[in-house]
Amino acid sequence: MVKRLFYCEMIVLCHLLLAAAVDHGNPANDLVDIINNNRTAQKLSHLNDSPGLGCMALQYVELCKDNCTSNNTVNCKPSEDDFTEVFAPNCGVELPTFDILTGHIVGCQSKYLEPLVAFSNVLVKDKKSLSLVKNKSHTEVGVGMVGGHKGHFFWCVLFSSGQTNSTFVLENHGLGIKQKKGCYSGSSIPCSGGHKISSVFLNIISMGFLFLFLLQHW
Ligand SMILES: *[C@@H]1O[C@H](CO)[C@@H](O)[C@H](O)[C@H]1NC(C)=O
Ligand SMILES: *[C@@H]1O[C@H](CO)[C@@H](O)[C@H](O)[C@H]1NC(C)=O
Ligand SMILES: *[C@@H]1O[C@H](CO)[C@@H](O)[C@H](O)[C@H]1NC(C)=O
Ligand SMILES: *[C@@H]1O[C@H](CO)[C@@H](O)[C@H](O)[C@H]1NC(C)=O
Ligand SMILES: *[C@@H]1O[C@H](CO)[C@@H](O)[C@H](O)[C@H]1NC(C)=O
Repeated sequence: MVKRLFYCEMIVLCHLLLAAAVDHGNPANDLVDIINNNRTAQKLSHLNDSPGLGCMALQYVELCKDNCTSNNTVNCKPSEDDFTEVFAPNCGVELPTFDILTGHIVGCQSKYLEPLVAFSNVLVKDKKSLSLVKNKSHTEVGVGMVGGHKGHFFWCVLFSSGQTNSTFVLENHGLGIKQKKGCYSGSSIPCSGGHKISSVFLNIISMGFLFLFLLQHW
């Protein structure tokens, strides 16, 4: 009886953990909210969350994900042309809608940090990056995030002064090209990567306990 209860509890526990992992949502969207909260608290305009910009930010971190130094600085310099020749096509951003980029912030860290901690400890840790966040020229923003091979987590924020919702338009009615890895803001598709692995893992453990439970009742 005690054993049966234990198995039941373990199954419930796994499912609760699973729900927590899935509930995690999209950290790139959370970072956009954090940026907007920071701006609006200082009476600056709210920025439009652009999935086209977000997807290009994801391409940026994809390109740079293995270039995080041992002291968490980004050693990576994509060229201007990469944006129009690589990042936009990889996302399915319609090129005629490509607009001016008014800034970018990149950061990496050897482990996953919650978006609020990543904002203040990784991305906006000096005056220069804070003044970039607060720049009045921006009208839209996009965030990309990915975990690299060496266990580093990379974040990129892209800003633009484009006319909101007529710029960085994604083809296929706004869906763009499906991304295999990472997260980007403005996307209706949940993140892939770290969280997915943990939910598969928890499901397997949960199934294991269910199996043991059934075995005990045979
Ligand atoms: C650490 O960061 C500084 C810049 O802040 C850089 O100049 C230096 O090369 C870095 N050291 C290593 C070992 O990556
Ligand atoms: C990444 O780092 C390597 C080694 O330092 C360098 O050769 C390469 O150009 C860097 N990648 C980018 C996109 O800057
Ligand atoms: C804001 O961004 C624009 C466009 O990148 C730049 O020209 C301007 O100097 C920035 N303003 C400040 C106060 O940094
Ligand atoms: C905005 O972010 C910066 C950097 O983390 C922080 O120092 C500042 O207090 C924030 N401002 C508001 C109003 O939240
Ligand atoms: C652009 O955004 C506005 C509101 O922000 C919305 O009313 C309008 O339908 C949008 N236009 C397109 C083409 O999506």
